[in-house]
Amino acid sequence: MDTAKEATAPASEKKDSGSSAAAAGLRGVVAAQSSIGDVNGEQGILIYQGYDIHDLAAHSSFEETVFLLWHGRLPNRQELDELDRAIGENYALPSQAIDMIRAFPRNAEPMDMLRTAVSALDFYDKNGHDLSREGALRTALRLTAQLPVITAAIERIRNGQEPIEAKPELNIATNFLYMLKGEMPSEREARIFDVCLLLHADHELNASTFTARVVAGTLADIYGAVTAAIAALSGPLHGGANTNVMKMLLEIGDISRVEDYVHNALAQKQKIMGIGHAVYKTEDPRATHLRQFSKEVGESKGETKWFEMSQKIEETIKREKGMYPNVDFYSASTYYMMGIPLDLYTPIFAISRISGWTGHILEQYANNKLIRPRAEYVGPRDLKYVPIEQR
Ligand SMILES: CC(C)(COP(=O)(O)OP(=O)(O)OC[C@H]1O[C@@H](n2cnc3c(N)ncnc32)[C@H](O)[C@@H]1OP(=O)(O)O)[C@@H](O)C(=O)NCCC(=O)NCCS
Repeated sequence: MDTAKEATAPASEKKDSGSSAAAAGLRGVVAAQSSIGDVNGEQGILIYQGYDIHDLAAHSSFEETVFLLWHGRLPNRQELDELDRAIGENYALPSQAIDMIRAFPRNAEPMDMLRTAVSALDFYDKNGHDLSREGALRTALRLTAQLPVITAAIERIRNGQEPIEAKPELNIATNFLYMLKGEMPSEREARIFDVCLLLHADHELNASTFTARVVAGTLADIYGAVTAAIAALSGPLHGGANTNVMKMLLEIGDISRVEDYVHNALAQKQKIMGIGHAVYKTEDPRATHLRQFSKEVGESKGETKWFEMSQKIEETIKREKGMYPNVDFYSASTYYMMGIPLDLYTPIFAISRISGWTGHILEQYANNKLIRPRAEYVGPRDLKYVPIEQR
């Protein structure tokens, strides 16, 4: 990342800066060079390291995508087998991490618990401060294997159950569903969840990835960068939207009330969660797959209500505002029909996005420059200090 370039980004790179020198929310500002992923907002195209997301969703797996994001190319069979084995070997959490989760308040937000647990994992990794490529890859592997284990343990422990030990021979998607519920998912459900993880893996300089790069750019370690990224992801304008989509569907309750709900929300200038995107001006390509999964999982469980309501919201908002669903919109009803608690949807996003975060952190370390932009000062100048007694 080149901050000098960022601070002086040419006008052509500042697509909607308006009258201010600083684009609101840095929209359109190019803040890094990266080979990890690219979003074409006009055409609705998402690529990871050159591969179209549709191609990967059809043929690849989450683990293969993890390799792709970290190494810039698809693995051969031996390399993928090696990664699968290494992930399996890294599932086991330090016992202190489980003890810590047991000490968390049971009603705490799972995203807050995940953030705190990840931060504390640093204490138990003697390699954690090794920022060499090999050291950083080891930490990235550890976190990618352990985030799903922590999330499943949070769910079990807060319900007064014992965490279920991971099975090293299972992939991340299957293992997570198994550890969550204590029973093996069907092959199809595990594959759908695997593709959900793949679809959420990277999205260029989204808020949490940018956060991770800013922290890594100070040469803080990966645990610190990922802890900050989890905090950024938790907000309702970012990863937190998926939980809010399901809350909205439950609040609406019936397809007959969708139109009124949307009209009222728009009249009150309220945002419909899971709709709109800072970059896409057309269909989010990830939503194309998630819409299909919502329908399929709903049909397989004999309950298509949530999918149909989602479709109706989509039609209404498209007609009224010309806006489209984003990645969070149909993932909500997909996870709901898989029987996953609402407040785990955003931790699941983190279980996937850890691959993109760590890919970007590796890239940042490899060619580091402290990220330090400037602010456009709009406050007063030349004020004279007045002693407190005279104010
Ligand atoms: C994602 C998001 C933050 C991107 O927004 P943005 O590019 O910053 O656009 P803004 O928030 O400035 O909105 C621009 C206009 O679209 C409207 N808009 C944006 N998202 C909307 C939504 N979800 N529902 C209704 N209106 C929306 C805004 O009200 C605004 O309208 P106005 O010009 O009449 O005031 C925004 O669409 C949003 O908040 N969506 C809901 C949360 C969500 O799903 N987040 C997950 C993103 S992957």
